[in-house]
Amino acid sequence: MITLKSKHEIELMRQAGKITAAARALAGKMVTPGVTTHEIDKAVYEFIKSQGATPSFLHYQGYPASVCVSVNDEVIHGIPGKRVLREGDIVSIDVGACKDGFHGDCAATFACGQISEEARRLIEVTRQSFFEGLKYAREGYRVPDLSRAIQDYVERNGFSVVREYVGHGVGRKMHEAPEIPNYVDHRMERPRFLRGMTIAVEPMVNMGAAAIKVMPDGWTVKTADGAYSAHYENSILITDGEPELLTDPSDLPE
Ligand code: MF3
Ligand code: CO
Repeated sequence: MITLKSKHEIELMRQAGKITAAARALAGKMVTPGVTTHEIDKAVYEFIKSQGATPSFLHYQGYPASVCVSVNDEVIHGIPGKRVLREGDIVSIDVGACKDGFHGDCAATFACGQISEEARRLIEVTRQSFFEGLKYAREGYRVPDLSRAIQDYVERNGFSVVREYVGHGVGRKMHEAPEIPNYVDHRMERPRFLRGMTIAVEPMVNMGAAAIKVMPDGWTVKTADGAYSAHYENSILITDGEPELLTDPSDLPE
C-alpha cells in the first residue's frame, strides 16, 4: 500500500531527512586514505544518536552497523570493519536515520584522494542519473517514467544499472511501497506519482556489466565482473510542483 503523508508527517520526514543528509556529509568528509570503514560507522552512529534519532540500518534484518560502506567493486551493503581506505578508492556511503517515527535514507559515492578519470565519470553519471529521474518525480508522471530516464541516461553514458535492488517508498518504515526501479520492463506495475508520496530514488550504476553477486557474509553485494560501481540516493517528497529533496545534497563535494 502506498501511503500519502499528511502535512505533519511531512514535517517529521523533513527532520529525519535533515539528520540523514548531515550523517552522509559527515561520513563523506571522513573518506580519506588511512581511515577505516569502522571509524566512519562509529562517527555516524554517534552523530545520529546525538540528534535524538536512531540509525535505521542497525539491526535491520540483522545488519550489524549504522552505515553501509561499499568500496570499488562493492555495489551496496558493504559492512564497515577493519578495511583501511586507500588513495584511489571510490567509497559508497549509504545511511538511514529514524526520528520521531519517520526514516530518512540517502547515499553517495565519494572519492578517496585522487581517483581515475573513469571512476570520476562513473560517480558523476550516477549522480546525474538521479537528477534525470527526478524530472519525472511529479504529478502527471508514473514511476516507470522516472525509471526509464535513469536507465537511458546511464546506458547512453556507457554504464549499466543494477536490477536486483531498487528504490522504494520511505516513511514510517524504511522500505515502503512502491518499488522505484532504475530500469523498465513490460511486466512492471505503473504507479502514478501523487502529492504526499515520499520515496527514495537510488540508482546503483556499474562501470561494466549489470550483473551482481552477494558475498558469503550474506550482505556485501559486488559486481560480478569486478568493475567499479557507484550509488546515489535521496529521499524526496512528491508535491503539486517541483519534488522536494528531503535529504539535501547541497553540502556534498562537487
Ligand atoms: N540503504 C538501503 C536502501 O537504501 C537499505 C540498507 S539495508 C541495511 O534501501 F541492512 F543495510 F540496512
Ligand atoms: Co534506500
